[in-house]
Amino acid sequence: MSRSCYPVILLGLLLTGFSPKHERAGPRTGYRDWKVYCGGPDRIRYSALAQINRDNVRQLQAAWTFDTGDAFEGSEMQCNPIIVDGVLYATTPKLRVIALDAARGSLRWSFDPNEGRKVFSKARNRGLTYWEHGKDKRIYFAARHYLYSLDARTGEPVTHFGKSGRVDLREGLGREPATLTISATTPGVVYKNLLILGSIVSESLPAAPGDIRAYDLRTGRLRWTFHTIPHPGELGYETWPKDAWKYIGGANNWAGMSLDEKRGLVFVPTGSAAFDFYGANRAGDNLFANSLIALKADTGKRVWHFQAVRHDVWDRDFPAPPNLVAVKRGGRLVDAVAQITKSGHVYVFERETGTALFQIEYRRVPPSEVDGEVLAETQPVPLLPPPFARQVFNEDMVTKRTVQAHDDVLQRLRTLRNGGQFTPPSREGTVIFPGFDGGGEWGGAAFDPETSLLYVNSNEMAWVLRLVERPPAKARPSGQGLYLQYCASCHREDRRGTPPEFPSLIGIGEKYTASEVSRIAVEGGGRMSGFAHLKGEAVRAIADYLTTGKDTEISGEAAAPSPIDLKYSIDGYNKFLDPDGYPAVEPPWGTLNAINLDTGEIVWKIPFGEFPELVEKGMGNTGSENYGGPVVTAGGVLFIGATNHDKKFHAFDKSTGELLWETVLPAAGNATPATYEIGGRQFVVIAAGGGKSGAHSGGSYVAFALP
Ligand code: HEC
Repeated sequence: MSRSCYPVILLGLLLTGFSPKHERAGPRTGYRDWKVYCGGPDRIRYSALAQINRDNVRQLQAAWTFDTGDAFEGSEMQCNPIIVDGVLYATTPKLRVIALDAARGSLRWSFDPNEGRKVFSKARNRGLTYWEHGKDKRIYFAARHYLYSLDARTGEPVTHFGKSGRVDLREGLGREPATLTISATTPGVVYKNLLILGSIVSESLPAAPGDIRAYDLRTGRLRWTFHTIPHPGELGYETWPKDAWKYIGGANNWAGMSLDEKRGLVFVPTGSAAFDFYGANRAGDNLFANSLIALKADTGKRVWHFQAVRHDVWDRDFPAPPNLVAVKRGGRLVDAVAQITKSGHVYVFERETGTALFQIEYRRVPPSEVDGEVLAETQPVPLLPPPFARQVFNEDMVTKRTVQAHDDVLQRLRTLRNGGQFTPPSREGTVIFPGFDGGGEWGGAAFDPETSLLYVNSNEMAWVLRLVERPPAKARPSGQGLYLQYCASCHREDRRGTPPEFPSLIGIGEKYTASEVSRIAVEGGGRMSGFAHLKGEAVRAIADYLTTGKDTEISGEAAAPSPIDLKYSIDGYNKFLDPDGYPAVEPPWGTLNAINLDTGEIVWKIPFGEFPELVEKGMGNTGSENYGGPVVTAGGVLFIGATNHDKKFHAFDKSTGELLWETVLPAAGNATPATYEIGGRQFVVIAAGGGKSGAHSGGSYVAFALP
């Protein structure tokens, strides 16, 4: 599709006659606090605060640093804090909730949901929800399979919410709760007295269904459910096999949602159905997976939807809550919803009707050659704005970092299926570019209502998706067979995993006892979902096999054929890297983009992030993987951390992309910053959690202000 747009494009700036100051009324009111995830229910990450501005941002200094003390090897901290009445609420790498004095960074209280259990692996949380009614002031957040309601003043659970202050998210899904693994890493939205919430579930089967749910904020009672995998009689039911609603999971909203309070509409982006990469047991287009769904916030009734990927087998989840924006069409402002994608596109729809504001074309795409897989014949592609990430990894884009790296990558590239978006997964391996983490990712985009510019940071990392045949059923009822069946898709058949995303389990017996491994297998943690449905005997056999190498047969007869037993799995989540561990593709390896949503043009684009050791060798400005979103302000500044390797927190001129200021954080700022004002002083704060791409982990919040 598109060619590389590297180096910097400033051309659009000239073409669009971009004018930052006049014409737009700007935001009507508000945008001066940060009480809500991403700055508000419209999720535009915009602040009207302007004390820190493009002229003085170079003087920014650390005002306070708070170390949560919870960092451990591999941990992450992705929280976008909220600030209410001078108190900053955030989460730690171990998912404790902390309340800090937002002016000084001193601790008021903390709440630990872990109940004494050891936190063994990455746990993720991207934010919290605040709600008040009269004297009732509360914080909501999810850890493991519980949604908690805490007293905002003390951090104590509100005992009359759910059972003793929490709701079990496994309940009410129409399946046996004990067999389900579900949590929520991203806050939902508050509408009247409802908390509307999505979920994170497993990407492989078994997986919980991705129901969208509304809970009573006071009591925790479930008030409505929207089935993203439709039940009999519901719209979209015919896009699945007839019993899929009983055994398929996913199609969940893990990325968060946005609310149009005035219209009472909630906009819910969903991810793929599980299993992500092979869909023989979910023939059909699979509504409402990979869809942007507009629901009535008070009832959960669907108003419109748009499906971006039919029958997804590429893990093309919508990765971030959409931005509720206003764009100019024929001289008037139209309320719209803009949704970024992992593939590097932006979809813009009229908010009430779902009418696309830029043309979308349905293109013929290749069929699968894999046994049992039937792909959709056509897929949508928006014609504008142009993609903000390269779309095909061509041979002329192979890394030229060293001759050896180039030759090695080129040789491997030639063995893979490679044709850009919608190239089917294959046995020989298919290049996924942009990769499973975008393009766009969970940090999402910021929107400036003064100028109609949408800011989005992007990864440009290729991954290789390779399908492998699972062992036949008769080999299963033993520790090793069960391991191959349930665990090898991530930890690989040879148990080497694909670190750091999927840890190696070789020598795991030196780290954990068999019973600890059993507990991890059953309860999961972080990106690994638990296998609560496995019988105790089966779990013990797997744990024995992993810790001692002994392959015990289990007494139960071979599992009866089940619709969740699939012929193919994958050989792990593999980034396409050169022999030295750098991206196989030529830079930029990450970019930051400003897109004019009135015209659909990219106004500026810069490489984003660096590898310090390559900079030393004279290879700077490469861009790098980056996670965490931007914040744009009326002071003319775009604040963003996100870059994995250089650990920098940056301030760019929002109209040109010029770097105005940067500082090195204690660990990479893989989170979205927040900005707020206390006593006439503007602060900007970011979580420095690191832990991505094997980077050093940290556990500090750092707040900056003018001296
Ligand atoms: C969908 C992918 C996936 C599957 C399937 C999976 N795991 Fe994991 N596993 C992970 C990830 C990811 C982690 C690391 C947790 C984190 O950091 O988020 C992990 C961590 C672990 C750990 C802890 C490793 C350490 O060094 O602390 C153990 C033990 C483990 N898994 C065992 C299993 C077993 C046993 C199974 C099969 C019953 C299994 N896993 C299936 C993804 C998976």
